[in-house]
Amino acid sequence: MRRPLVAGNWKMNGSKESIKALLDGIKQGIGDVNSAEVLVCAPSIYIDGVSSQLDGSPVVVGAQNMSEQTSGAFTGEISGSMLNDFGCQYVIIGHSERRAIYGEDDALVAKKFAAVRAAGMVPILCVGETLEERESGVTETVVARQIDAVIEAEGIDALADAVIAYEPVWAIGTGKTASPEQAQDVHAFIRGRLAEQSADVAAKTRVLYGGSMNAANAAELLAKDDIDGGLIGGASLKAEDFLTIARAAG
Ligand code: PGA
Repeated sequence: MRRPLVAGNWKMNGSKESIKALLDGIKQGIGDVNSAEVLVCAPSIYIDGVSSQLDGSPVVVGAQNMSEQTSGAFTGEISGSMLNDFGCQYVIIGHSERRAIYGEDDALVAKKFAAVRAAGMVPILCVGETLEERESGVTETVVARQIDAVIEAEGIDALADAVIAYEPVWAIGTGKTASPEQAQDVHAFIRGRLAEQSADVAAKTRVLYGGSMNAANAAELLAKDDIDGGLIGGASLKAEDFLTIARAAG
């Protein structure tokens, strides 16, 4: 059985004050979340404080990006061992904003994926097509290419304890969610792609949906067979909305 995972991606939002209020709200309501694993991926500078505030709570902490390098002369970068040192258990890799705005390509994302695992954490590999790609009918080609880059570099077994997040780029931050059927189709395709190489890995890998998931639409999406949780942007900044999604996943 795959344990549902509901992950908040705060992106570059928040302050000490707003994060404290958000975490207080999450901690207050987390008791009603039954089976889902709940994760918050904070901006790196806040991870230490978030870990301390979540001490003793079941909510786990993650990062939104990290270096593919382990240490040395890489000004401005943060390594896996540093994140791990501050209690991170997950790292989002290859988010579409990083691919589109910061030029991260499949090869770099595969290196980051390996670095996250080498540091003892779980990568959340983001994949997804743009609107143009969906309209020209290449969604599966794009998603397969993004996943294959990691399988070719790391081998299929590296995916077994990893997480994949399917995030159609046209649905991120737009309020335009993929329909449960559209999402399920791609999730089933992703699982099938993994199953071509290992049925065991395909059965274990959690595949999250991301892209304007919110308190109102989460239950329908999460009811689908191959949707094992969500990667939540905007709605993860409001404790009540985030908890509603987490309850729907459990
Ligand atoms: P959104 O973002 O929920 O605000 O659409 C999701 C994401 O980018 O991970």
